[in-house]
Amino acid sequence: MVQIEKVFQYGALTMPMVTGHLRAVAPLLLGLDADYPGFTNWLQTKVGFGLVLGEREILLAKHRGKIAGLAILKSSLTENKICTLLVAKSFRKCGIGRQLLDASLRSFNGVLPMITVSEKRVDSLAPLLLSKGFELKDVRFSYYVSGMNEFVFNGYLDGCPPSYIH
Ligand SMILES: CC(C)(COP(=O)(O)OP(=O)(O)OC[C@H]1O[C@@H](n2cnc3c(N)ncnc32)[C@H](O)[C@@H]1OP(=O)(O)O)[C@@H](O)C(=O)NCCC(=O)NCCS
Repeated sequence: MVQIEKVFQYGALTMPMVTGHLRAVAPLLLGLDADYPGFTNWLQTKVGFGLVLGEREILLAKHRGKIAGLAILKSSLTENKICTLLVAKSFRKCGIGRQLLDASLRSFNGVLPMITVSEKRVDSLAPLLLSKGFELKDVRFSYYVSGMNEFVFNGYLDGCPPSYIH
């Protein structure tokens, strides 16, 4: 049985609390730096401050207390985005990804958010996204990683990324 927990508390999360949450999810996210250069730094700064400011939230899928997957969401006046949707390899194909996506969509109150997916992972994520009504709007070559396509659903990426900007 998997439970979805929210790391979000508008105005009540302090930086030390956020640091603790980020430390807990770090092992699951190992390896994403290769697809998204600067990912770890982005997590600790933009996501960390976003959680404190209340414009980001993290959904954790937990199985017997263990983190099995997560979704990192951004919701601001100008942007609704699923920044990261990931299920641990040992928990895949059990419905957790779908549960996390459903919970994410509830957080956006029915507005379909943007998500971008590296070509390395699009085969596993696209069927789930398309089943929920996401539409592929753009494919950007060498956007985050040289020589790699980035698939953009429900939105468009800025012209040129100065750094990791999720
Ligand atoms: C995509 C991902 C989230 C799916 O998680 P999951 O828990 O295995 O997915 P579910 O079991 O809920 O399956 C959801 C649907 O996706 C489909 N799916 C899952 N893995 C798939 C794969 N490897 N290839 C094709 N379809 C796949 C399933 O068929 C399922 O559809 P169904 O319900 O009609 O059978 C997971 O594979 C993952 O984390 N991949 C890496 C994503 C990543 O790198 N994210 C970071 C950048 S955003």
